Amino acid sequence: MATANLMAAACGAYALLLACTCCAAGPPYRKATVEETAGSHLCTHAADFDQPKLRAYAEEQFGVAIREALGSGVPQAWAASSVADLAMTLVGGNIDLACNKKNKSNGGCYIPILTNMNAHMRLCGNDWPPFGFTMVGLQRLVNVAQLVSSVVAAGVQGDFAELGVWRGGVCIMAQRLFSLLEPSNMRKIHAFDAFEKLPGYGSASAFLENSATDVQNNFKTMGAWTRHVKFHVGLFQETARAFRAEHDVARTRLAILRIDGNFYDSYQDALYQMYEYVPVGGYVIFDDVMSHRAVMACWIDFKTDQGLPETLTRIDKHSAYFQKIVDTRIDPTKQHPPQDVNKK
Ligand SMILES: C[S@@+](CC[C@H](N)C(=O)[O-])C[C@H]1O[C@@H](n2cnc3c(N)ncnc32)[C@H](O)[C@@H]1O
Repeated sequence: MATANLMAAACGAYALLLACTCCAAGPPYRKATVEETAGSHLCTHAADFDQPKLRAYAEEQFGVAIREALGSGVPQAWAASSVADLAMTLVGGNIDLACNKKNKSNGGCYIPILTNMNAHMRLCGNDWPPFGFTMVGLQRLVNVAQLVSSVVAAGVQGDFAELGVWRGGVCIMAQRLFSLLEPSNMRKIHAFDAFEKLPGYGSASAFLENSATDVQNNFKTMGAWTRHVKFHVGLFQETARAFRAEHDVARTRLAILRIDGNFYDSYQDALYQMYEYVPVGGYVIFDDVMSHRAVMACWIDFKTDQGLPETLTRIDKHSAYFQKIVDTRIDPTKQHPPQDVNKK
């Protein structure tokens, strides 16, 4: 998640104890080279959006993405409309209520202070939807659809993994898209999360907590629960390591690796254990990299230490991704000591 609320919560909780890199006392903020996508300006500048415009934008953007994989035609127009409906439900865009993001208590979603939905906030994932299945916002779901279509169109093989799923909405979108675009190619959907309260989130931890059972029920509700969906329950430092032990790097592929874990250690665990599964042509998405200094610091350390040539492309105010262009072997000895969630 990349919201102002969460950034404040994540940094605030660690600031005094750990000199969190988000805060003024941290090391100088090194910036990475970032390219812009066509739609990123919608979330880096104010834009006039209401609910019907959000729905129309979704249908247009999902239509473009689906055409990349399937070509044009009447069934594709129907598919774009149904995926737009799905996305509106996932982001909470069909319910005319939203959190008041100014109130930090209970993760900014204290029920008595719900306000009218702000469509621009839901486009950009700037608030916390009490009723949706994902906080990432429509623009980042469109990005997932673009990358899913891209790997399908290019024939890049491999599964989808998200580390940090919260209520599961992004994984649900990926599952539904892959089964729409490739009904006979059963790619796995790997959902990693602690599925319990993480103390590093401070006052937001109650809002961010979900049980694995609740999230599995979300998959069932949204028609995305199949035997190809795999849950990995626990801290990434354990579950990503276990995945590595169980899956031969030479034989397992992740066409899309999405990381949404807010903390330096969460990203470092994900990158060191999972990066090598992504083939050339596959994608890595960082949800929080443009707004969480600790996450940007982790990306720059990893890129520098491992000599990666890839650069980021911005999705919205908070997020970016890159396509893998070189099959780089990762040197595990370069890993940095724990800085936040893994620190005892
Ligand atoms: C911002 S939320 C993810 C939002 C989600 N991608 C969505 O679509 O709404 C971050 C999630 O990452 C999980 N998380 C963060 N660091 C973690 C770690 N080191 N191990 C396990 N889970 C972690 C939290 O439990 C939380 O559910």
